[in-house]
Amino acid sequence: MKTADATILYLLRNAAQPVPIPELAQAARLSPSELAERIAGLEQAGFGIELIPHLGYRLRETPDRLIADDLAALLGPEPRRIGREIVVFEETGSTNDVAARMARDGAGEGLVVFAERQTGGRGRLGRAWASAAHLGLWFSLLLRPRFPLTQWPRLTTWAAVAIARAIETALPGTRAMIKWPNDIYLRGRKAVGILIEGSGAGEERFAIVGIGVNVNHLEGDFPPEVAARAGSLRGSLREDGPAPEEPPPLERPAIAVTLLDELDRLYPALEDRFPEILAEAEQRSLLLGKWVRATTPGGVIEGIAEGLESDGRLRLRRRDGETVLFSGGEEVTLSH
Ligand code: BTN
Repeated sequence: MKTADATILYLLRNAAQPVPIPELAQAARLSPSELAERIAGLEQAGFGIELIPHLGYRLRETPDRLIADDLAALLGPEPRRIGREIVVFEETGSTNDVAARMARDGAGEGLVVFAERQTGGRGRLGRAWASAAHLGLWFSLLLRPRFPLTQWPRLTTWAAVAIARAIETALPGTRAMIKWPNDIYLRGRKAVGILIEGSGAGEERFAIVGIGVNVNHLEGDFPPEVAARAGSLRGSLREDGPAPEEPPPLERPAIAVTLLDELDRLYPALEDRFPEILAEAEQRSLLLGKWVRATTPGGVIEGIAEGLESDGRLRLRRRDGETVLFSGGEEVTLSH
């Protein structure tokens, strides 16, 4: 654990019993009075920490806030690539921009930048991404892929599969589908978007994987222009019926960590076992086998979405039998 707060939170979060003061102080390398100060700081940040006489400290409640030390505590001490460094901003323009700036300043692969609110969140094809405060997970990963630039479309497929798996781990019983190339749908609504940006030039070689996850949104929380299509993890748990109750809010820090764990676990497969990722993306696809419409700068192309190429591009077969490949710069939707 990198900081005293992360160590304290790690021990408190993983203890079934109150943790004795000497144990906490020693692990965090603090004197008992310094420990008391740190505990007061954590309480101010929203953690409910109780001192049980003669026994030690116990964690009673945790805040619905993303806190870098708490995310580190939830991830645990094992070495990892994605999430080895985490920063959290209360507000920023776009986490993709912050991560790119940090990449240019030399930050290492695996950095994750979260923001509780984005004022300039963006999506593919120049669209805005609504990033309301404390309702979702808005974050960007910094990667420094060793494979050639031409293979970078793989990143979207990898991220989509890892995120789909993580959602199913966090919400057992849920089926997460991928709408090629970068959207995750839950019960017919888009709950996640992925935006890959980067720079392939020499020293500056890096990729930023921007991920927006709608977590606790209810219907009225989306801007009107996307409300008909947008969904959230919480919303996907809503029961059907005449007067369904709203499901309780989900714990965003725990979901953030499940996502980072799955992205980290699947990262080596990007180089070694990409065909497995592709096969899973095909199984989860909302488009494959269906008649779709691709809107490209050169016009509209219609055809059957036939499969994914070895680098993640979408293969369409037109009515005249000709095959067309798409790499993600187009809008592809189901034809009705
Ligand atoms: C899309 O669906 O078109 C992609 C949306 C990506 C949104 C995320 S939120 C975190 C990161 N920062 C941004 O400005 N965009 C991505």
